[in-house]
Amino acid sequence: MTTSELRSAQWYAGDSRNAYIHRSWMRRGAPADSFHGRPQIAIANTASDLTPCNAHLNEIAAAVRDGVHAAGGVPLNLPVVSLGETNVRPTAMLWRNMAAMATEEMLRANPIDAVVLLGGCDKTIPSLLMAAASVDLPAVVVPGGPMLNGTFRGQVLGCGTDVWRLSEEVRAGTLTQEQFLASESAMIRSRGHCNTMGTASTMALVAEALGTIVPGTAGTPAPDSRLLEAAHNTGRLAVDLVASDRRLRTFVNRASFHNAIVALAAIGGSTNAVVHLLAIAGRLGVELTLDDFDRIGSSVPLLVDLQPAGRFLMEDFHRAGGLLAVLREVRDLLDPSALTVTGEPLVSYVSDAAIWDPSVIRERSAPLQDAAGIAVLRGNLAPSGAIIKPAAASPELLRHRGRAVVFDSIEDFHARIDDPNLDVDASSVLVLRGCGPKGYPGMPEVSNMPLPRKLLAAGVRDMVRVCDGRMSGTAYGTVVLHVAPEAAAGGPLALVRTGDYVVLDVAERRLDVEADLSARTPNAATVAGFANPARGWERLYVDHVLQADTGADLDFLVGMTGSAVQRESH
Ligand code: FES
Repeated sequence: MTTSELRSAQWYAGDSRNAYIHRSWMRRGAPADSFHGRPQIAIANTASDLTPCNAHLNEIAAAVRDGVHAAGGVPLNLPVVSLGETNVRPTAMLWRNMAAMATEEMLRANPIDAVVLLGGCDKTIPSLLMAAASVDLPAVVVPGGPMLNGTFRGQVLGCGTDVWRLSEEVRAGTLTQEQFLASESAMIRSRGHCNTMGTASTMALVAEALGTIVPGTAGTPAPDSRLLEAAHNTGRLAVDLVASDRRLRTFVNRASFHNAIVALAAIGGSTNAVVHLLAIAGRLGVELTLDDFDRIGSSVPLLVDLQPAGRFLMEDFHRAGGLLAVLREVRDLLDPSALTVTGEPLVSYVSDAAIWDPSVIRERSAPLQDAAGIAVLRGNLAPSGAIIKPAAASPELLRHRGRAVVFDSIEDFHARIDDPNLDVDASSVLVLRGCGPKGYPGMPEVSNMPLPRKLLAAGVRDMVRVCDGRMSGTAYGTVVLHVAPEAAAGGPLALVRTGDYVVLDVAERRLDVEADLSARTPNAATVAGFANPARGWERLYVDHVLQADTGADLDFLVGMTGSAVQRESH
């Protein structure tokens, strides 16, 4: 490309004093031609020691860097806000929009022509894609990849999911406390993100189905050399993206989201993908609604047998053929018009894919379940919608009428759930409010409430639960989540009382309470359970966050600003 065609030329081109200043600070050994016709490629890097899932991304960034150099570009490492799911409090979701906003602004503020987005842990790929969509620069994702299978005492360990199994074994007396603690160093066997089909794995695979990752890359384990090769080649591609001006909005459209929803269902992905995809669509101006997830995904077969609901882990998934093998099985359900970041249609990559282990990735003729997607419920308890994953629920509870036992906050829940005198039985419906985007704030993963101890002791293993929060991608049960509007935003969930009867009918897509709510107002304890931060990001967030049914973005961040910078200070 000629220098003048590059966005970065606004900083570097010409003989002016300003161009001199911009170039001289960036020289630092770089040859003069670095600023003449060579695309400047940012590597938006979420590497951080406090995000252990992404701690290895500097090595991947180095491979991207080599690729950018090889294709004639100039690579520029850009550390961006990194969200580590296990460490960040109160919940990483509170910071997703902040990370997206900060990344967007830094991309716009700097002399950059395209960006390679390096993410892994749950919120990192969503926030990077939201940023890239709003700044509207050419962009491509390299996912950090899942960790290898852990093993302990001869058994495979799934990150996160198996800690619950092991702790139950301690309670059952089949594992000593010392053995339990010894498993701690075996749980995370290698670099990489969670190796179950949790949110990180889901978002990497869904981002590839969306077209934003070079097909065949997502799901490659973090330590696998092929991931470095893919990173190198993506670095090369990023340089080409500048010449072809391949910004997300030039190829990510409704057809892309259609394919992402098909993939989400076929892999049995996390419900968190719903809010992230809605938020990304909102940034791109793509019409996507909650109902699209039900309409497109609810009849898609479940083909992947991965923890938490299944048996295997991401290393097995990759060995068995990965996402492209899954998509080949559901090719007739894909929209063939959707393009990828390479410029080629997604469907053009699936023809040669093969299933190498049908116990991990099922053939279409032998699915794990016939219909795996997400059901969207509505009713007087969720006028704007709520979701449930029927495949993760107990079939006998999908149609249920039960007496509500209501909790005003997660603290209220923990204080009372194991009280032997709590008036609750197996037919009750546990209702937890104050856990939506505004109420907590940040919409934590608490919807899959633990069952009352006395019912667990009696052998109860599932109950209907209703909440305005989210659920971990590694959880399952008959859980209605993302209830919108949330209680703290004036939703009817704030008006339900213990003793009301709640009716769930998944086949009819209904969630109702048998009560006249019109005469009720939220009681003082309910309101006290809602967050009311005094200042800072949390105040901004509570004042502007949208509801889960539209992606829980901030109202003023929806859409795009573009990459133009109108003013320069010197
Ligand atoms: Fe980072 Fe699970 S904690 S992906």
